[in-house]
Amino acid sequence: MAIQENNKAKTLRGLFGSKKKSHVTTTSKSDFPIVQAMASGNEIGDKELQKSAKKHLWMHFTRHSPYNKMDMTIIQKADGHYLTDSKGRKVIDGLSGLFTVNAGHGRQELADAAAKQTMELDFMPLWSYAHPRAVELAERLISYAPKDLTRIFFTTGGGEAVESAWKIAKQYFKMTGKPQKHKVISRQTAYHGTSHGALSITGIAAFKQMFEPLVPSTFRIPNTNWYRADPRFKTEEEFALWAANRLEEVILFEGPDTVAAFFVEPIQNAGGCFTAPKSYFKRIREICDKYDVILVADETITGFGRTGEMFGSQRYDINPDMMVTAKAITSGVAPLGALFIKEKYFAPFNEGTATLAHGYTFAAHPVACAVALANLDIYDRERLVDNVRINSPIFRKTLEKLKDLPIVGDVRGDGYFFAIELVRNKETKESLSREESEKILRGFLNNALYDQGLYCRADDRGDPVIQLAPPLTCGPKEFEEIEQILRSVLIEAGSRL
Ligand SMILES: Cc1ncc(COP(=O)(O)O)c(C=O)c1O
Repeated sequence: MAIQENNKAKTLRGLFGSKKKSHVTTTSKSDFPIVQAMASGNEIGDKELQKSAKKHLWMHFTRHSPYNKMDMTIIQKADGHYLTDSKGRKVIDGLSGLFTVNAGHGRQELADAAAKQTMELDFMPLWSYAHPRAVELAERLISYAPKDLTRIFFTTGGGEAVESAWKIAKQYFKMTGKPQKHKVISRQTAYHGTSHGALSITGIAAFKQMFEPLVPSTFRIPNTNWYRADPRFKTEEEFALWAANRLEEVILFEGPDTVAAFFVEPIQNAGGCFTAPKSYFKRIREICDKYDVILVADETITGFGRTGEMFGSQRYDINPDMMVTAKAITSGVAPLGALFIKEKYFAPFNEGTATLAHGYTFAAHPVACAVALANLDIYDRERLVDNVRINSPIFRKTLEKLKDLPIVGDVRGDGYFFAIELVRNKETKESLSREESEKILRGFLNNALYDQGLYCRADDRGDPVIQLAPPLTCGPKEFEEIEQILRSVLIEAGSRL
């Protein structure tokens, strides 16, 4: 091992020392702080990581200009419910990575499953050949699924599963005598991914403008933001029925013969954890049945226990025709997505020469499938979903204590998935202005929460909210810790308004 290291160091030294041409296209050593540290046999620490990241890394959904003046947060380690960054700061993971690490960080058996699978079968795609882990995982997933979802199309994430659902819907209708059915309806402010198709379905105008023209034929209806519903609605049920009926309205506007699918999250993430009563989904189901529109539940976040049932569709009796899942399917250890489909929509693809000309190299990667199977073992053994069901009311109560602060307008959500909406005036529900949101959310909250020891998300894709979705292994002790940090930072945020 030592000899190998030595040789590596020599090779890297050669990279800078030798006059021969190397793969490196610029000659400045300072462009390569990590390669340089390795060549000199030095440790790679925060200094090298910061320098290199600022020079070479393009972060997602991130403003880069602040890093011209300040350091990035570089998360280096994770264990259980905690993250540690490259400066040694330890924070509680209030967002499960990104709604993903549901079983908690650092699970030895997930690492073991990945290692074992790598040595048994490291890679095969699902292109004309199958492999055992994909077969086993498809069956296992269906054993937990809402009724009649009996077919799995694997992807590497949520957006690809959304994209796949739309493409399958389009081809299904072309093959079954309704070739004009191709349009998609979704909800305002909903996020469904970033590829051109999934982004077209997304309901956040600001995310789309730079990429127009997008895929045509997508339409939005109102979401179920009860906190900001028109006061003429006396009950949430009444409001939700009105919101559901907008689906019928748009289907009729566009022509039922042209509408293929409706995409809905059981709890809408963007905008801040919009829930809906079961009656909403019952009405949505009726409308989809009436006009032969495919009901797609996007459970990228709500899948795998987040709501207190294995799937949000079970929690709210949604009975979807297709169900998008990803993220927590492997508890974040490997990228994987799974689109669940009712047999009816697969049947025409099972005849003659029919083929779905669509797929992804890394979908159902054997290592990801092995990890997902091991992850489901953890779910079963540790009863993670029961843990959410039992503790969710305590989590809600703990967060609701924050309602005594003037800046906290609303606390909403379900399971282990809550949003705290921030307001300028609690009585009138007046929201923060754009400038205040910029100053408080971006300029203060995100960093302050982190500095006080909480990783979570301050988000203003809709009205400004703080979102929480801790690992499903958390309990009252972690809820208290989260509340304490939120309290101190929100008091300070309120004083800055
Ligand atoms: C509801 C929903 N759909 C789709 C996506 C996109 O998933 P991915 O980033 O895995 O493509 C997300 C991501 O957060 C999501 O929340």
